[in-house]
Amino acid sequence: MTRIHALVNQKGGVGKTTTAINLGAYLAYLGQRVLIVDLDPQANATSCLGVDKRAVQFSTYDALLSGDVPAASILFNERLKLSLLPSSPALAGAEIELVEESSREFRLRNALQTLDAKYDYILIDCPPSLGLLTVNGLVASRDGVLIPVQCEYLALEGLGLITQTIERVRSVLFPELRVRGVILTMFDPRTNLSSDVVKEVNNHFPGQVFNSIVPRSIRLAEAPSYGLPISAYAPTSVGAKAYEALAKELLNSDEKES
Ligand SMILES: Nc1ncnc2c1ncn2[C@@H]1O[C@H](COP(=O)(O)OP(=O)(O)OP(=O)(O)O)[C@@H](O)[C@H]1O
Ligand SMILES: [Mg+2]
Repeated sequence: MTRIHALVNQKGGVGKTTTAINLGAYLAYLGQRVLIVDLDPQANATSCLGVDKRAVQFSTYDALLSGDVPAASILFNERLKLSLLPSSPALAGAEIELVEESSREFRLRNALQTLDAKYDYILIDCPPSLGLLTVNGLVASRDGVLIPVQCEYLALEGLGLITQTIERVRSVLFPELRVRGVILTMFDPRTNLSSDVVKEVNNHFPGQVFNSIVPRSIRLAEAPSYGLPISAYAPTSVGAKAYEALAKELLNSDEKES
């Protein structure tokens, strides 16, 4: 069975895309068949993996509108052994176009169902909003949502909003929706603030926070400009070690569960 997780946080710049790409890359490195779905019209995951969004022919947009993911729309990176369903500028119009469509919240879930058994993990990179695209990501998150939280001032601010949205989707659309885990990002060991956030988030989501914490790392911020995940750009950096540890933590816990 494919495990499907959306990376969700309506706050911008908290590390959703960085986590989708690098967690995905390490899961692939560890032998898993991984598909990254870029559900953000900004197409950051697409560019972070070195794909020019203007040259994309079939994208998440087509999957949402047609309910299908043709094999030709998936780009496979031989070197990274990583698959990508890219985003394209057209995705920006999808929220409005889908409003008129039937079962508009289930479009992505239904489209991904056509891929069943082809992948071990599907990671969906959501935009920084809680609109229809993110709702599609939540409804498709069969195995729970991953919530990246940046270790900074007011980190908890806004988490209530995600929790409420998850509750709402659970009660109206998808009763089994759950939080798979919270991932702390951009941790700075030199500040008390970062450690305070770690404590606060653990209090807020008891037992749901991954032990692997991603530190702030220049290398992680540089890698996208080379179109590479950290596993290929700077595999010995602290950021790489953190994402490798996170991938192993997720895998181990999934193996225990099954
Ligand atoms: N651990 C880290 N250390 C240093 N820089 C980071 C780290 N994680 C992410 N960044 C940088 O911070 C910025 C925001 O990260 P990212 O794009 O992953 O966030 P996002 O939540 O996907 O943003 P958006 O909401 O716009 O989609 C990027 O420039 C990224 O390279
Ligand atoms: Mg992003």
